[in-house]
Amino acid sequence: MRQRTLIILKPDSYQRKLIGTLLERIEQKGFKLAGMKLMVISEELAQQHYAIHKGKHFYGDLIAYITSGPVVVVAVEGESAIAVMRKVVGATAGFDAQPGTIRGDFSISLRYNLIHASDSEESAEREINIFFKQEELIDTVPVIHSWIEGGE
Ligand code: CMP
Repeated sequence: MRQRTLIILKPDSYQRKLIGTLLERIEQKGFKLAGMKLMVISEELAQQHYAIHKGKHFYGDLIAYITSGPVVVVAVEGESAIAVMRKVVGATAGFDAQPGTIRGDFSISLRYNLIHASDSEESAEREINIFFKQEELIDTVPVIHSWIEGGE
């Protein structure tokens, strides 16, 4: 099923100049970029995005980190995009993530884990709506996608 998921290339990706490398991985897997913004996330948007973590011991540090500098927010679209992007991203902590995943190859930290990917259909819809208006998302599918996503 064709889906959209919300990806955030976090402040450590930007500071470490990994934005191009990480976007390349997402595109090379076969996904379409449906929306993209370079921005500094406000306190308010961060609290909305991470609402489910409110009250956890790491919540304050998490909000401080995600608002600490520029990020690239991407709506990624393609076949089973939510589950497949979670696999591409890898386990939450860089030190647990398998080599070959983004976190497994580039992160060794739990907090500074470079990238966020929505964990369910409900989260994806909610998170995309936090960062994008409908008219900011591209609906057309490049013709090459029948070569990438076609078949059984
Ligand atoms: P993310 O996938 O964006 O979702 C929530 C984030 O909180 C997670 O990536 C980590 O950056 C961070 N996080 C999760 N668990 C912990 C923890 N135990 N201690 C510190 N940070 C955490």
